[in-house]
Amino acid sequence: MEVKTSLLDNMIGVGDMVLLEPLSEDSFLENLRNRFDHNEIYTYIGSVVISMNPYRSLPIYTPEKVEDYRNRNFYELSPHIYALADEAYRSLRDQDKDQCILITGESGAGKTEASKLVMSYVAAVCGKGQEVNKVKEQLLQSNPVLEAFGNAKTVRNDNSSRFGKYMDIEFDFKGDPLGGVISNYLLEKSRVVKQPRGERNFHVFYQLLSGASDDTLRKLKLDRDFSKYNYLSLDSAVVNGLDDAANFRTVRNAMQIVGFMEDEVQSVLELVAAVLKLGNIEFKPESRCNGTDESRVKDKNDLKEMCELLGIEQSVLERAFSYRTVEAKLEKVSTTLNVAQAYYARDALAKNLYSRLFSWLVTRINESIKAQAKTRHKVMGVLDIYGFEIFEDNSFEQFIINYCNEKLQQIFIELTLREEQEEYVREGIEWTNIEYFNNAVICDLIENNQNGILAMLDEECLRPGTVTDETFLDKLNTICAEHQHFESRLSKNSKFLTDHSLPHNCFRIQHYAGKVLYRAEGFVDKNNDLLYRDLSQAMYKANHSLIKQLFPEGNPGKVNLKRPPTAGFQFKASVGTLMRNLQTKNPNYIRCIKPNDKKASHIFTESLVRHQVRYLGLMENVRVRRAGYAFRQAYEPCLERYKMLCKKTWPHWRGPAREGVEVLMSDLQVPTEEFSYGRSKIFIRNPRTLFFLEERRRQCLQDLATLIQKIYRGWKCRSHFLLLKKSQIVVAAWYRRYAQQKKYQKIKSATTVVQSYTRGWQARKLLRELKYQKRCEEAATTIAAYWHGTQVRREYRKFFRANAGKKIYEFTIQRIMQKYFLGLKRDLPSMSPIDKSWPSRPYLFLDGVHTELRRIFHLWRCKKYRSTFTEEKKAVYEEKLEASEIFKDKKALYPSSVSQPFKGDYLEIRKNPKYQKLNSAVEEKVLLADVVNKINRANGKGTARIFLLTKNSVVLADQKTGQVKASVPLPDLTSVSVSTQSDGFFALKLKEGSASAVKGDFLLSSEHLIEIITKLHHIGSTAADREQLNVDISDEFLVQFKQDKVCVKFIQGVAKNGNSVSCKRKNNRLLEVSVPATA
Ligand SMILES: Nc1ncnc2c1ncn2[C@@H]1O[C@H](COP(=O)(O)OP(=O)(O)O)[C@@H](O)[C@H]1O
Ligand SMILES: [Mg+2]
Repeated sequence: MEVKTSLLDNMIGVGDMVLLEPLSEDSFLENLRNRFDHNEIYTYIGSVVISMNPYRSLPIYTPEKVEDYRNRNFYELSPHIYALADEAYRSLRDQDKDQCILITGESGAGKTEASKLVMSYVAAVCGKGQEVNKVKEQLLQSNPVLEAFGNAKTVRNDNSSRFGKYMDIEFDFKGDPLGGVISNYLLEKSRVVKQPRGERNFHVFYQLLSGASDDTLRKLKLDRDFSKYNYLSLDSAVVNGLDDAANFRTVRNAMQIVGFMEDEVQSVLELVAAVLKLGNIEFKPESRCNGTDESRVKDKNDLKEMCELLGIEQSVLERAFSYRTVEAKLEKVSTTLNVAQAYYARDALAKNLYSRLFSWLVTRINESIKAQAKTRHKVMGVLDIYGFEIFEDNSFEQFIINYCNEKLQQIFIELTLREEQEEYVREGIEWTNIEYFNNAVICDLIENNQNGILAMLDEECLRPGTVTDETFLDKLNTICAEHQHFESRLSKNSKFLTDHSLPHNCFRIQHYAGKVLYRAEGFVDKNNDLLYRDLSQAMYKANHSLIKQLFPEGNPGKVNLKRPPTAGFQFKASVGTLMRNLQTKNPNYIRCIKPNDKKASHIFTESLVRHQVRYLGLMENVRVRRAGYAFRQAYEPCLERYKMLCKKTWPHWRGPAREGVEVLMSDLQVPTEEFSYGRSKIFIRNPRTLFFLEERRRQCLQDLATLIQKIYRGWKCRSHFLLLKKSQIVVAAWYRRYAQQKKYQKIKSATTVVQSYTRGWQARKLLRELKYQKRCEEAATTIAAYWHGTQVRREYRKFFRANAGKKIYEFTIQRIMQKYFLGLKRDLPSMSPIDKSWPSRPYLFLDGVHTELRRIFHLWRCKKYRSTFTEEKKAVYEEKLEASEIFKDKKALYPSSVSQPFKGDYLEIRKNPKYQKLNSAVEEKVLLADVVNKINRANGKGTARIFLLTKNSVVLADQKTGQVKASVPLPDLTSVSVSTQSDGFFALKLKEGSASAVKGDFLLSSEHLIEIITKLHHIGSTAADREQLNVDISDEFLVQFKQDKVCVKFIQGVAKNGNSVSCKRKNNRLLEVSVPATA
């Protein structure tokens, strides 16, 4: 996109007419055409925007464009309506100046579009936010609603506003929209009942019929067919490029956004339907007997449906269409209506119904968009009033519309041309006067209170007697005939001028924008705006909340006999208010120009444009601008605004403001021809000078902002620091307090603990002592108690039964023992020591005693038995005992010897004569005599020998002869060897070197081996002079045979032929004795 920094960049023609060279009407038009051909529809005259209607949409209203023009200087970019809107909005926001946007131009020149563009621009650039957006949306959406009800297609404009609209948008100090107020001016209500050829009724009728759902239409008792309704002209029911159905939906939606309730919308549509129905009611004459004609409703169906829609009683309305009641001073006179009057009444009702509905809509919208806050508002007014209109047939409405336009032109002239020139004069600025047409005279012609047209119309209306449009015209002719801007047949005629273009019933006014021929017909009626009281009362009776509100004068309780103010009077008053209102605001002009009459794009009809340029006074406007100064400002605000640009004036200028400005300007070295000093204002010739100042100011402001920021930041940091410091002290104090508190609490609790321990310890100590004392006392008591107890028990024991058990027990035991001992005595076994019997034990507990007694008894019995022994028997037993000591458990032969008594002398040696010889050889007493076998050392065979034992020796003698074979003194005998077995072999070992040992030891065998050895041993033990005889018991022993030692070995053998023991010589050294195993 091209970037423009100045109006002058890439300019097509001249953007600002002030710069046009040479300046003439032709060059002016040429410039406009040139720009129009290049799609530049906006051109400036200073700060005034000329807008040419392009009749097509141009891509110059995009959001990007909005951004381009936002916050830019007016002359910075190429001319645009946005630049004007931005300028207005910014001076409203930043300089607190209320603004008004005055949009003027002919019908169809683009005023309404321009007003919408301004509003949408302001909505786009002002603040954002949920609430703000809602307000904006409501403000914007009020347009479609009002356009549907107040706009219609005319020959000049397919969407012509048929009402004047002035909207105040209210802003807060930040420039955010708060709400708005809409004022409406005189709706062209005659359109409701009749439309000129090629035009339509208000859009809403067509929108409703084509856009509403079948269901809605049924509810409203309507038919989709336009042709069914008398009030709808048929020739242009459908307009190219206008989608009524879609617009209906848009309007419904807009109503919802604006805040209409569903039932309100419904009521509104019901009223619209009622108007259509009303148009279909027709009347027929009915002759009465007095010869007058009375009207009657022809077909009552439409009447009925309409009454149903509005909740009106049919008969009441029917009567209101037939009669008219006139009240005058407590008198009521009822006259019948003829058919024409009935039609008039019907149309009046329809017009009133519709126009009041429209006013109600405006009020209702105002209610929604009303600013909530009560604070002071800044206001931007947007005026979009119907444009100047010249139709073929111009009536009261056009008169009023054009009057309004005159007034607007007046205010434009006032403010831009006259005011400006007057100001130069007033301020003493050198100035050459510029001629311009001032339309004040025309305004005066219309609105003058004495002889103005409106005043006269009112006079006619109020005058008693017959009043017609003709009488009104006559009056005009007499009073205004002399006025230079007034023409009529009569006035002309009086001057003897004939003008056939001027019909009899018309008058012509030369407006600033051209001559307009008005037909006088209808002026009086329209000005009167009469609605028969019967009708308004009928409406008031309606059972429909909205209708009732719309016809408050129908309330029979509030009958007001005073005439209501006339339409003209009302309009004049409201225009007066509007003008006063506009004068308080800073004006911004948009002057709309229509390029052609065909609503076509790209066509530039020069004559048409020239005409508009002329009557709009644009040329004069340029001339004044060029001759004068683009900008002026009183010294005080000027100094205030720019004083920062010079050191001398900044920050305060002490002297008069004018001097301050002079110092400022010379300091800035602005060329002197660029400005002039007036009496109270400075005048700056060129906008560029202003921009220069503004630019410098902007830079300076930035520096100032930096400075302020710097100081503010410094201040902020310092105060933040101080705050931190202060807080730190507070925090520290609190913390110290807290810490001390904690410490104190800790010490306190520690002390308490120590204290409690000490106290505990002391208490425990005390307790211990007390307990000990108590225990001592208790112990003494206990001991005493026991002692006493013992004493008492001892004393009283005998009295206690508790001891009986023990006594019985002892007694029983005694008895048992007694019995036991007596029984034992009775059953004692025999006195024989070998008797093993012993009575059985009666009780288990006597077990030990019983065994002990048995042992004692046995010992005693043995002792008794022993005491009966003789000396011999005693010796025998002693020998037996000795034998036992030697052999018991050592020699197998021993047990068999126990029961055999030791006879000693088996041979009865002293008595038997056989042994006489032997007897003599042995002198000593023979202790033992027996026959033994002497084993032959050579072959082991035995030889019987008599064996004698005396106290001193052992004698071996031949059995047969008794001859002593060997006598061995006992001291020569060292030991005896025997086997362990049951044989009778024994070896007598002799002392080496002794006399008897020459032949060697003796190996003998005897049946009485045990007795022999025992006696040998006994003698050895009793003899004091000898050593004890050794008895060797072993199965292998050595025997000394002469020189040799032979080993005698006992083995276990088998018994052979009764010869139990056999002895064999095995070799020189071994003699083997085989002993049969004892069975
Ligand atoms: N800026 C524009 N851009 C495009 N079309 C425009 C513009 N201004 C006006 N028009 C066209 O001209 C028609 C008439 O404009 P409008 O504003 O209704 O006229 P006025 O209010 O002056 O009678 C609009 O319906 C639109 O089609
Ligand atoms: Mg308009």
